[in-house]
Amino acid sequence: MKRIVIAIDGPAGAGKSTISKIIAKRINIEYIDTGAMYRAIALKALNNGIDFEDIDGIEKLLKDTDINFNNGKIYLDGIDVSGKIRTPEMSSLASSISAIKVVREKLVYLQRLMAAKKSLVMDGRDIGTNVLKDAKYKIYLTATVEERASRRYNELCKKNIDVTFENICKDIITRDKNDMERKINPLYKAEDAILVDTTGKSIEEVVNEILNIVMKDGE
Ligand code: DC
Repeated sequence: MKRIVIAIDGPAGAGKSTISKIIAKRINIEYIDTGAMYRAIALKALNNGIDFEDIDGIEKLLKDTDINFNNGKIYLDGIDVSGKIRTPEMSSLASSISAIKVVREKLVYLQRLMAAKKSLVMDGRDIGTNVLKDAKYKIYLTATVEERASRRYNELCKKNIDVTFENICKDIITRDKNDMERKINPLYKAEDAILVDTTGKSIEEVVNEILNIVMKDGE
């Protein structure tokens, strides 16, 4: 089988991880959630009391950090942190730590290693514009702020995390601004990415739209 590389970028709550997971399963390729990696580093810095202004401290922490994916779970230094990284606090800390140069350098390096020679779907903010610039398929997934906030709100309510819709809306707007306006590898649509607006669409509709793009080429 030919190598298939699908890069999916877009703002928070656009449905990237839900859609990417299903696509990976349907065509039996690997899925790498790069947002989870930034979240894991933010969690480690938080647990170790390292200030995000302390670049030397962050650099040291990165040196002895091991991040791995196994069976849809993310392991930070051998410990499954998949649940712990999914809180609104970690979303906001991940967005802040992702603006730090040394953090991006290390994670982009790891992401490229993970992707080497494999067929995969990788999602994040800078996959089509930076990490996997040569990916054959690039999708920019988006939706209105209201729709993205309402998806996040429902997701967190299901997990019994105490949040208000207004706060989720505010968090999403702040995160969009951070992710799109940071100096290094900000979020934007690659020129050769296909825009997929998921507003008002079901998960199945979006999955099929993307699979049609991939299958059109006879993959
Ligand atoms: O996709 P997510 O919400 O789990 O990502 C959390 C944060 O990590 C996001 O606000 C910005 C950052 N991120 C990034 O800068 N680059 C990526 N490739 C993925 C995520």
